[in-house]
Amino acid sequence: MAIAIEDWKSALTTRLERVMPAAEAVLQLPLIEEIRELKARTGAVVVAHNYQVPQITAGVADFTGDSLAMARYAAATSAETIVVCGVRFMAETTSLLCPTRRVLLPAIDAGCSLADSITAAEVRALRNAYPGVPIVAYVNTTAAVKAEVDICCTSANAVQIVDSLRAPKVIMLPDRFLASFVAERVKCEIIPWAGACEVHERFTAADIAPYRNSNVVVLAHPECPEDVQAAAHFVGSTAAMADYLARTQPERALLLTECSMADNITLEHPGIRFERPCNLCPHMKRITLKRVRDSLRDGTTQIHIDAHIAERARRPLDRMLAL
Ligand code: 13P
Ligand code: SF4
Repeated sequence: MAIAIEDWKSALTTRLERVMPAAEAVLQLPLIEEIRELKARTGAVVVAHNYQVPQITAGVADFTGDSLAMARYAAATSAETIVVCGVRFMAETTSLLCPTRRVLLPAIDAGCSLADSITAAEVRALRNAYPGVPIVAYVNTTAAVKAEVDICCTSANAVQIVDSLRAPKVIMLPDRFLASFVAERVKCEIIPWAGACEVHERFTAADIAPYRNSNVVVLAHPECPEDVQAAAHFVGSTAAMADYLARTQPERALLLTECSMADNITLEHPGIRFERPCNLCPHMKRITLKRVRDSLRDGTTQIHIDAHIAERARRPLDRMLAL
């Protein structure tokens, strides 16, 4: 038994050493071991977003993915306790899809600038201004906003969701850059909301300019501004970017998204060299191993959604997952 424990520790530190100094990798082990024991004792699962740090994704997560894959995992798991290593809208989505389960968000203050950019009252005003026009909400919204819309989408399925509506006009909220990404790929008119992600809107075409005429493959998230998307070789969700790199294995890549993405891909594909810049999401970075341990041990950061809102907010999510 003791040998097995040492085996996982040395395998994990070997992987973590790809993205951090050896001494730092070893320092992660006590908390990782404590969280693994707490998980085993409570039957909890840990679901992480691709923007979480490698000590969380490789150390304690049972599943790591993009928003869509996280929602699908939540809908399928039977675990009584689900710890969401991500931001609040991700934990709310999990709670909506698993209403009888305990959903813990280790940093209860982990928000999102997109989710904060529109209120339920503003969605109702849009509904009145555009009678009969279907409303698609990015999952990066509050449960109260989801309760007002027709269907949800993520960056991975937004085009497919809008196409499925077969409507001449569609309202897309709250990210204006995801809306223009979709508008370029569908036949209907897209009416956008003016929200933006504080992490991705900061990228500019000047960030890419030094790599023009080089062997650097440029990938961008659809939350990046239009000119950044236009200059990239590939635009897609976090999972789509990871798949693209796994498939093509370039020597060098520039990932115009959150910094931990490159670290997580390096764990699997150490041969790809990542260029800068990348940007940090301050909300995602509120989740730490210590907070995951505290959350599991004390159960104090549970997500609660008003029952009336939850009932209405679940419908657009279920519609999305049914497609
Ligand atoms: P993905 O769904 O592509 O993982 O993106 C979520 C997100 O918050 C990006 O900023
Ligand atoms: Fe929200 Fe942007 Fe952070 Fe994603 S990266 S959680 S959209 S603030």
